[in-house]
Amino acid sequence: MERITLTKDISFSRIVHGAWRLNDWNYTTDQTIELIEHCISKGITTFDHADIYGSYTCEALFGRALEAKPELREKMELVTKCGIVLESPNRPAHKSHHYNTSKEHILLSVDNSLRDLKTDYIDTLLIHRPDPMMNPEDVAEAFSELKASGKVRSFGVSNFKRHQLNMLQSYLDDALVTNQVEVSAYELENIQDGTLDLCMEKRMPVMAWSPLAGGAIFSSNDEKAVRLRDTLTTVAEELGTEDLSEVLYAWLLNHPAKIMPIVGSGKTARIDSAVRALEHKLTLDQWFAILHSSMGHDVP
Ligand SMILES: NC(=O)c1ccc[n+]([C@@H]2O[C@H](COP(=O)([O-])OP(=O)(O)OC[C@H]3O[C@@H](n4cnc5c(N)ncnc54)[C@H](OP(=O)(O)O)[C@@H]3O)[C@@H](O)[C@H]2O)c1
Repeated sequence: MERITLTKDISFSRIVHGAWRLNDWNYTTDQTIELIEHCISKGITTFDHADIYGSYTCEALFGRALEAKPELREKMELVTKCGIVLESPNRPAHKSHHYNTSKEHILLSVDNSLRDLKTDYIDTLLIHRPDPMMNPEDVAEAFSELKASGKVRSFGVSNFKRHQLNMLQSYLDDALVTNQVEVSAYELENIQDGTLDLCMEKRMPVMAWSPLAGGAIFSSNDEKAVRLRDTLTTVAEELGTEDLSEVLYAWLLNHPAKIMPIVGSGKTARIDSAVRALEHKLTLDQWFAILHSSMGHDVP
């Protein structure tokens, strides 16, 4: 599979697997190992986490697989996030839902992630959401310490807009390596508001969360979803497939921002759809037909 270079030492697989829903799948440790091995066999070596996924449980579920098969660790890149505080029975000290990007919280969150993932290092740590109370000097100090200790190899952000990303970057020694944002044929905001343009300006590859709009494209009866399904069906026929998710992934992969879609399903057949999408080259007619059906009108 194609690899996307983030630093001179770190590259991600073009398709990433996401662990947000891992707790919902009720997989045994053996089934989690099978899932990880299936991904790796297809070339998907980058796995996306966050401390809060599954109310602070998903990292540990994945970590059980790494504990049982430690040799898997060196075959993968681990991404995780910090900065959101959730009320949870697993974090009884948390009194409210808020953001915390203090140095103390970032360091503590990384230690928790390392413990739960059963690993010595995180390949890329992301600040999960822009925090109105972020002190960038604090973040810079936390990043420096984590890099110096070898606990984290590189840093990025998630859901950051232009001004937020530029502000944090101005305090950091190293370039942020990615911005993980919501983008799909259904959810166009980050394409339309300049966020992807900023990432391209900075030569910063983009990770796309909810590339299938969390499944809404298939299940929703809102007008946009219905229009999209019609167009996707036409394009799928032209591409010689019946799998609409292949077209949705291909729509992202054909964009010039080096988008890395994060697959949110634990089902191997659905993971394979994302891998097959790498083979599809969309014409501009096809790409814009999907854009138009999402917008509900043509480009000006
Ligand atoms: N940075 C952030 O703020 C942020 C936010 C959200 C997510 N993420 C990351 O992005 C990853 C992917 O997000 P996501 O899970 O929302 O991705 P997604 O791929 O858009 O959505 C996955 C959902 O779509 C369903 N689905 C997939 N194919 C389908 C089909 N053909 N028909 C009906 N339903 C279908 C899946 O169901 P099945 O499970 O049944 O296949 C699953 O519930 C997460 O795991 C996480 O790592 C990051």
